Amino acid sequence: MKTQKTEIIKEGNTEILVFKNKASKKGPGSKDEEPFYNPSMELNRDLSIIVAQWLINSCKKDLHFLDGLAASGVRGIRFANELDDDFVVSINDWNDQAFLLIKRNIERSKLKNAIACNQNLNVLLSENKYDYIDIDPFGSPVYFIDSAVRSIYNNGIIACTATDTAALCGVYPKVCARRYCAQPFHSYMMHELGLRILLGFICREAAKYDKGIEPILSYYTDHYFRVYVKIRRGKSYANKSIEKFSLINSKEIALSSNNDECQVGPLWLGNLHKKPALEEIRTLLFEKELNTKNSLWKLLSLLEEEVDAPPFFYTTDGLASYLKMASPKMETVFEKLQQKGHTVVRTHFSSTGFKTDAPLDDIKEVFKEENT
Ligand SMILES: C[S@@+](CC[C@H](N)C(=O)[O-])C[C@H]1O[C@@H](n2cnc3c(N)ncnc32)[C@H](O)[C@@H]1O
Repeated sequence: MKTQKTEIIKEGNTEILVFKNKASKKGPGSKDEEPFYNPSMELNRDLSIIVAQWLINSCKKDLHFLDGLAASGVRGIRFANELDDDFVVSINDWNDQAFLLIKRNIERSKLKNAIACNQNLNVLLSENKYDYIDIDPFGSPVYFIDSAVRSIYNNGIIACTATDTAALCGVYPKVCARRYCAQPFHSYMMHELGLRILLGFICREAAKYDKGIEPILSYYTDHYFRVYVKIRRGKSYANKSIEKFSLINSKEIALSSNNDECQVGPLWLGNLHKKPALEEIRTLLFEKELNTKNSLWKLLSLLEEEVDAPPFFYTTDGLASYLKMASPKMETVFEKLQQKGHTVVRTHFSSTGFKTDAPLDDIKEVFKEENT
């Protein structure tokens, strides 16, 4: 290992050796660069700890986890140290310095259930099978999804992060078309659409192998998308999933103006989360030592609130500018729509957003009432 300075950081109840001063570095993750540790992704890793624990609790067999793009190995080392019960975690990075750092971290923490690997992730996935595969790249995960779908055991989980938000949100539509084979739509709805494009891509890749997807938990936060998707083997699962994978017209998205009319997607139009799993995952928060517990609680509460809601949402400010009226308070909108017999819930995509089964005319009426 080169003589870069290292420091010890602590996440959860695990101490990890990382290279110093790499927190703000951005890069393509080439084989020669120093592995970096990004403290701003702690919430992302904390949540993976409780989803992994949920998977262990809900399975009757010993599981094999893979931290496929591990850098310092922080996520995989934490899995090995913080999860209860029997399992093994392979921690992989093709970068030689990362590999040496991962090995050092395994030795320092005296972990018996962790294996360091130094391979191209696609090669590793072609040669082995796993129950949980974590794909946390710089940018897009698309380069690994085909092999992950082939490698995952039936009912296993593929967890992946996408930080190529400009592509998924429609700032660079041609990039999105090349990577995801989908047309994004740059609008107030772009984060939900981006998340559904990512899930749609996984659905399509899985269907090739007669596998279906079941999203357990999906979200957008802090400039990245993250999904946990259960993969189910069988033509009927694949067919059911593909039925929920479709193009839409931009007019179907609330508040898009006619000038913008175009095809959007294809998108995943099924659920973003699985209700019972979400409830169980949230209760596990109390069993673990996590620095981001409060933020995670808020995020998971919002996901639970929106779990049964239809795709897409409105925002009070978006409605106000569309209707050229002042925006009533969120509470007022909720109260009035509920009085009219509609369901209305908050959404994690926007602090002024809400999802409802109310037709636009009923929402307009509430705005009019509040503006007279
Ligand atoms: C964003 S970093 C991973 C961060 C890490 N998961 C964490 O939580 O700190 C991406 C890592 O992927 C590695 N990488 C990129 N392409 C790879 C490939 N094809 N096979 C294996 N490792 C790869 C890079 O060397 C880099 O360390």
